[in-house]
Amino acid sequence: MATFISNSPEDTMAFGRDWAANIAPGTVIGLAGDLGSGKTQFVKGIAAGLGISTPITSPTFALVIEHNEGRLPLAHLDFYRMQSSDEIIRAGLESYFQPTGVSVIEWIDRWHGPLPTQFHRIDIITHSPTERRITYEDVGH
Ligand SMILES: Nc1ncnc2c1ncn2[C@@H]1O[C@H](COP(=O)(O)OP(=O)(O)O)[C@@H](O)[C@H]1O
Ligand SMILES: [Mg+2]
Repeated sequence: MATFISNSPEDTMAFGRDWAANIAPGTVIGLAGDLGSGKTQFVKGIAAGLGISTPITSPTFALVIEHNEGRLPLAHLDFYRMQSSDEIIRAGLESYFQPTGVSVIEWIDRWHGPLPTQFHRIDIITHSPTERRITYEDVGH
């Protein structure tokens, strides 16, 4: 595992942006971390790295927001309100695990089903009001 220490929302966004630079089609990114840890902030970076300029807002109520104007299509999902894998399937969200572009999923811990080969998990831990510890598998994506 690799670790990145973020000291500001901008750090977290820049980390996401760099991380997205070489992202391949068909990639699924699962984000875990408490409310306010910076998952959505990280997604803003991913979007910027894909060349998406529309604002990134939390899809907590919409469940999924799709952005199609970047280098690759980005689907931004949030499983916060999902109670189980069954509920995720019933909501019709399972297909986002096989994207043609990139799927980023907040609250990935709600999902207990199979994961695709091109899956990357990122954990964000809040250490102080401004410090976050971001751990990820360093696969060189
Ligand atoms: N180092 C940091 N990285 C990310 N967010 C931070 C950081 N320090 C403070 N914050 C604040 O924490 C909040 C993170 O919110 P958000 O990204 O919506 O979290 P989540 O999606 O995990 O609930 C924002 O208000 C942001 O300004
Ligand atoms: Mg969020």
